[in-house]
Amino acid sequence: MTVRSLLGILDLAPDEVVALLDDAARLRAARPALVAGGPPDTTLRGRTVALLFEKPSTRTRVSFEVAVAELGGTPLPLSGAELQLGRGETVEDTGRVLGRYVQGLVVRTFGQGRLRALAEHGGVPVVNALTDAEHPCQALADLLTVRDEFGSFEGRTLTYVGDGNNVAHSLLLAAASVGLGVRVAHPAGYAPDPAVVADARDRAAAHGSEVTVSDDPLAAARGADALYTDVWTSMGQEEESVRRLRDFAGFQLDARLLAAAADGAVVLHCLPAHRGEEISAEVLDGPASRVLDQAENRLHVQKAVLAALVGGVGPGASA
Ligand code: CP
Ligand code: NVA
Repeated sequence: MTVRSLLGILDLAPDEVVALLDDAARLRAARPALVAGGPPDTTLRGRTVALLFEKPSTRTRVSFEVAVAELGGTPLPLSGAELQLGRGETVEDTGRVLGRYVQGLVVRTFGQGRLRALAEHGGVPVVNALTDAEHPCQALADLLTVRDEFGSFEGRTLTYVGDGNNVAHSLLLAAASVGLGVRVAHPAGYAPDPAVVADARDRAAAHGSEVTVSDDPLAAARGADALYTDVWTSMGQEEESVRRLRDFAGFQLDARLLAAAADGAVVLHCLPAHRGEEISAEVLDGPASRVLDQAENRLHVQKAVLAALVGGVGPGASA
């Protein structure tokens, strides 16, 4: 693999994304035997991966910890607040020091610059476990979930309704890279980064697929194969939550949108969900929902990422 870190989804070439999904599917198929006590996976034997989280997490933190353990490595969960980082030690010094102890860093933080600094100074592979700008591991799991459902991306469209945030950015770029059409519908003032949209459009054009952005969720949902949403208030934006509740009115992923989607359309959400806000309970908990498969797929794609970056196996080489 040519990349050492996964700071954003574009650190992976389109063929690497597809190879990682294939690796993830293989690791998923092998898992029942592994957890039943079969021969251990030794991909990360002798290696320690620090999981540094400066924001809360359920899925990412737990799935990465399990992923490292199942690959035969040692996960080292670290909370930013418990480190000297929380008392003002620089991110550069933190990276320099951690890089002397561990063979990989999985980091959830705020600005992309903090992540880059850890990668530059740590000297070990760094994986983005969510920043304000991107959530690439989520996007890989999202793609795997869509591919599981439909067999391929060709001719398929995913509609994302809501905030043009970190999840939307990685999803736009990842989907466009593999030829999955994307429509985004957002309220005024919550558009995804125009540079991300422009880049996604260029990537989509190479596949003959489309990226559209509008303020009309119903039109965007019409005929779509997958409907996706995320919270209206992301971590770190809590003081905006009252205004956001007002601004996102009419952008709930509900039965009306699902009825407009294609027959057999599925519903995705990165979770955590707020029933009655960005998604109705009946849709989130209904038969079209694939959110638990999507959450499980985080584990499988992250094993593939860790095998490639920290284990030196893949993408496409862990068959
Ligand atoms: N989807 C996701 O990243 O969830 P967590 O915040 O629980 O990790
Ligand atoms: N956009 C959300 C995703 C949570 C997994 C956030 O950043 O809080």
